[in-house]
Amino acid sequence: MEVRAARPEDAPALGRVMVGAWLSAHHGQMPEAAWQKRVEEWTPEVSAQGWARMLSSMAAGDQLRTVLLVAEEEPSDPVGLVLATEDEGDVSGATAQVNALYVLPTDQGRGTGRLLLRTAAAELRRRGFSRLHVGVLTANLPARGFYEAMGGHEVAQRTFDEEGVALPETVYGWSDLTLLAPEA
Ligand SMILES: CC(C)(COP(=O)(O)OP(=O)(O)OC[C@H]1O[C@@H](n2cnc3c(N)ncnc32)[C@H](O)[C@@H]1OP(=O)(O)O)[C@@H](O)C(=O)NCCC(=O)NCCS
Repeated sequence: MEVRAARPEDAPALGRVMVGAWLSAHHGQMPEAAWQKRVEEWTPEVSAQGWARMLSSMAAGDQLRTVLLVAEEEPSDPVGLVLATEDEGDVSGATAQVNALYVLPTDQGRGTGRLLLRTAAAELRRRGFSRLHVGVLTANLPARGFYEAMGGHEVAQRTFDEEGVALPETVYGWSDLTLLAPEA
């Protein structure tokens, strides 16, 4: 498995991975109506448009503290992604936040999530971050197990606004990014 920076031409694959893994992971972790709304409105093509905008803004040099990586076994066929950027809750600018970490269901449990998180942590260190946060639905027990196995500690409880539905979220933190990425 190789992890590399996402490129503009990855937008369709990012849409496919994000929507496929998201719908599969979060079914049963939120009210059924909220999940169905996503199924109806949030297609891989819609998601790809958002990724295309982000990738073009990154290519223009507008998001220098954002990290967007893909994992792939076959060239140009990503099976996982990680998006991380500044945590705006920390005015010092030292804390990064994982906004998305998704691996296709068929590829989970093979070390890809770990490789994505560790590689993102190294990239974040190079961008001057020293700490990391990630918010995960409290009902998402498998992902919480993953973050705990990766050394994250519960640091806060908050809610995630899923289009007007407030879902409980647990925030995991790493107070020292060198724990995830000894070498940046
Ligand atoms: C969470 C996710 C990113 C983890 O990626 P992954 O490739 O499946 O995980 P890995 O194979 O890299 O696991 C790394 C370690 O985490 C631990 N781990 C993984 N899943 C776990 C679980 N359900 N419970 C406990 N520990 C777990 C294991 O210790 C594993 O180490 P091992 O291989 O030595 O056993 C992936 O499963 C995923 O995309 N899930 C659906 C989407 C999601 O919930 N994303 C997080 C949103 S915040």
